[in-house]
Amino acid sequence: MSDLATLEQRAQAELAACADEPTLRAWHTKYFGKTGEVLTALKAIGGVPHEQRKTYGQEANRIKEALTAAYEKALAAEKERALQASLTANPLDVTLPGRPVQRGRLHIATQTMRQVYSIFADMGFQVYRTREVEDDHTNFELLNMPPHHPARDMWDTFHTTVPGVILRTHTSPGQIHVMREFCPNPIRVILPGMCYRYEAITTRSEIQFQQVEGLVIGQHVTMADLKGTITAFARRLFGQERQLRIRSSYFPFTEPSIEVDIDWPKEDPNADRLTKGTGWLEIMGAGMVHPVVLRNGGYDPAKFSGFAFGMGPQRITMLRHAIDDIRQFWGNDLRFLRQF
Ligand code: DAH
Repeated sequence: MSDLATLEQRAQAELAACADEPTLRAWHTKYFGKTGEVLTALKAIGGVPHEQRKTYGQEANRIKEALTAAYEKALAAEKERALQASLTANPLDVTLPGRPVQRGRLHIATQTMRQVYSIFADMGFQVYRTREVEDDHTNFELLNMPPHHPARDMWDTFHTTVPGVILRTHTSPGQIHVMREFCPNPIRVILPGMCYRYEAITTRSEIQFQQVEGLVIGQHVTMADLKGTITAFARRLFGQERQLRIRSSYFPFTEPSIEVDIDWPKEDPNADRLTKGTGWLEIMGAGMVHPVVLRNGGYDPAKFSGFAFGMGPQRITMLRHAIDDIRQFWGNDLRFLRQF
């Protein structure tokens, strides 16, 4: 019994001397660990002579409860003290503004594309996506350009190490894919996407750029439909008062072929530079789908006709925002991108 009394006094005194959490925890292990003194004292109950066992057991248990309560109190007090100390040492100003979350934005090229999609969507066009890696056959031959056709000179091509596999030079090969999928049904789609050309990079030409191709196939589709569609498109994008000018041109996959210009507002200080003094600015190539191309897509030119057009949305964006260097589009300069 006297051992128990000494144990309690010693334990209480040591507990009172603990100045921080680690020493408190060490104290706890010393007395309450697996081989701790309090547990050892409790285990000893069995060995105490019978007549003293009850008193000894009650006293041992009382000491265990008392020391446990004292420990918990001391630990809680120590935690509170540590918290107060840290609050005074490192005051936290909860009124400071948080770190601002950087807000992203859509790339100007994406913004233009979405505007184009929405204008054509209003006219019943669907977006049809096709591959950027093409074969020579679809990029050229099926569009009425056999291997030695001089028109191929219009497109400087990136070749892969696999013969006949190239990066598409324009979105026009998509016409073949969509026709072969939908034939003999009518078609009204735009084919947007990236194109690649092996060219010297300058302020006016890049090796990669987007195009938006359009294709309409059906019975009795005429040049009047083409003119109406692109006039409506150009006026939605550039302003209702825009005038369009249609010039005759040449593309192997359309017959007849045209190029479309819009008038540029004379009030715009850039008008002279943009239009080289003519007042007109080219926005797209177009035409009636060539019978050979229709046939390659599976359509009988005696029953079906169609029109197609192709334009460069980067060029259009440059016009609308007076951007003077096409390299800005993929240069990833935030000072440029943040302006839109
Ligand atoms: N594929 C032509 C180019 O990249 C653009 C083009 C012109 C597409 C006339 C057409 C078209 O569909 O009818 O230069």
